[in-house]
Amino acid sequence: MTKASERLVWAVETLAVEPADHVLEIGCGHGVAVSLICEQLAGGKVTAIDRSPTMVDMASRRNRAHVASGKAVFQAIALEQADFGSERFNKIFAFHVNLFWKQPARALGIVKQLLTPGGAVYLFHQLPGWKETSETQAFSKRATDMLRSNGFAVREVLAKDLKPMPAVCLIAEAPAITPG
Ligand SMILES: C[S@@+](CC[C@H](N)C(=O)[O-])C[C@H]1O[C@@H](n2cnc3c(N)ncnc32)[C@H](O)[C@@H]1O
Repeated sequence: MTKASERLVWAVETLAVEPADHVLEIGCGHGVAVSLICEQLAGGKVTAIDRSPTMVDMASRRNRAHVASGKAVFQAIALEQADFGSERFNKIFAFHVNLFWKQPARALGIVKQLLTPGGAVYLFHQLPGWKETSETQAFSKRATDMLRSNGFAVREVLAKDLKPMPAVCLIAEAPAITPG
């Protein structure tokens, strides 16, 4: 099995997984983050989706023991088409999934419905052109504005100096939906 990249190790450290967490990963790719998350779950669960059946196939094979134990569930589906029924998640994350930056209102509108009260979304991103701190700061500022304008409260903005390019993470909560 390939070694987890530094960026995904950092991402899962940032999630600070608790044993009973219910985590949703959007755009799981090879399922490397899911493997790291499962090591920390006991009683909790991670659901991972990717719109590419090929990626889900690879991710499921990589995590076959966790799938067999029920700790990990994979679905080949785009976020926009996914139906989780009444299931809700206390941590939802995506690393490098363009939907959040190209159609933020659509993606965040869906995420808002899927979070438990007090739950948080963790959006990780990296761009090949990023070299200077000023570039990650400018992106973080735009992403913060984008989250706020979609009704999220930004809890934390993190930057990590990684090679070959830095990464950022925005952690945000949706305000509690009060019954009318
Ligand atoms: C750049 S890759 C990143 C994979 C993984 N998160 C990582 O960082 O290694 C983006 C992944 O998100 C998936 N993806 C893109 N748009 C998606 C959507 N709307 N719903 C679900 N998955 C999506 C792609 O199929 C791809 O596997």
